[in-house]
Amino acid sequence: MNYRHVYHAGNFADVFKHAFLARILVYLTLKETPLRFMDAHAGIGRYDLNGEEARRAGEWRNGVARLKNAAPPPDVAALLEPYLQTLGPFDGEGRPERYPGSPAIAQALLRPQDRIALCELHPEDRATLIANMGRDGRLAIVELDAYVALNAWLPPKEKRGMVLIDPPFEAPGENKRLIEALTRALRKWPRGVYALWRPIKDARDDARFLNAVAAIGAPNMLRLELDVGEAPTTSAASVPLTKTGLLVVNPPYVLFEEAKVLLPYLVKLLGRGKGAGFVCEWLTAPN
Ligand SMILES: C[S@@+](CC[C@H](N)C(=O)[O-])C[C@H]1O[C@@H](n2cnc3c(N)ncnc32)[C@H](O)[C@@H]1O
Repeated sequence: MNYRHVYHAGNFADVFKHAFLARILVYLTLKETPLRFMDAHAGIGRYDLNGEEARRAGEWRNGVARLKNAAPPPDVAALLEPYLQTLGPFDGEGRPERYPGSPAIAQALLRPQDRIALCELHPEDRATLIANMGRDGRLAIVELDAYVALNAWLPPKEKRGMVLIDPPFEAPGENKRLIEALTRALRKWPRGVYALWRPIKDARDDARFLNAVAAIGAPNMLRLELDVGEAPTTSAASVPLTKTGLLVVNPPYVLFEEAKVLLPYLVKLLGRGKGAGFVCEWLTAPN
């Protein structure tokens, strides 16, 4: 396991993923009853964008830093507000004091009655995650394989909540394992909300992946994608990511309409050139 999210923290794909994560959590907390947030690939929770790795990669500059001077129209501003609240103030270059990963976003937006289950397989990252999350009685942090944890967690005793599946996609066969895990998870907890993040590098591979997910046969799968367009020319060795997607299974009923407002703005905010755009459509029919 070589992947370290600190190199990518706060990049355009994080802004996209975390803005929608915040929307889902906001919706789920409208009801008083407790819920559980389960993060199968948690990372380290909070990221220092001033640290050596983040400075070297600099991906946050084309991501979260663009929010510093953003002036979204009121409908977009209202939708972004919970995510912005988790970021706190920016420094002169557009860095939040520490960029919140998905565990920190859940920690900020969930209530005392809710529970947060985090899984991080990398032992060092898990130790950092524990330190970064601080003392919080709502937390349980395990060092397991994500799909083993998921199988153990589901269905949660609260019967409400969401799962985030956010692997690094560095292991061969990740897509196959993910689809098997989602199939099993949906059998155990068919009404749960699931958010599956993915990088989109090859259109054909991605179409195959989507077909395989649709073939699980579950309804209510929402496909959200952001393409920031042509990347500036760099060395052939490092082709930067320009497209990312989130599949949301059983999304809150408002998410489709919210995405139609948020995504065009994210294209404007984070777009870099030719080909920038978005997708907001049902992969399988809503019911
Ligand atoms: C993309 S990062 C997670 C980012 C985080 N969800 C966020 O949004 O802030 C993926 C994380 O999964 C961890 N990981 C990789 N393989 C794993 C596995 N099989 N089970 C659990 N965690 C894994 C990596 O160490 C890495 O920290």
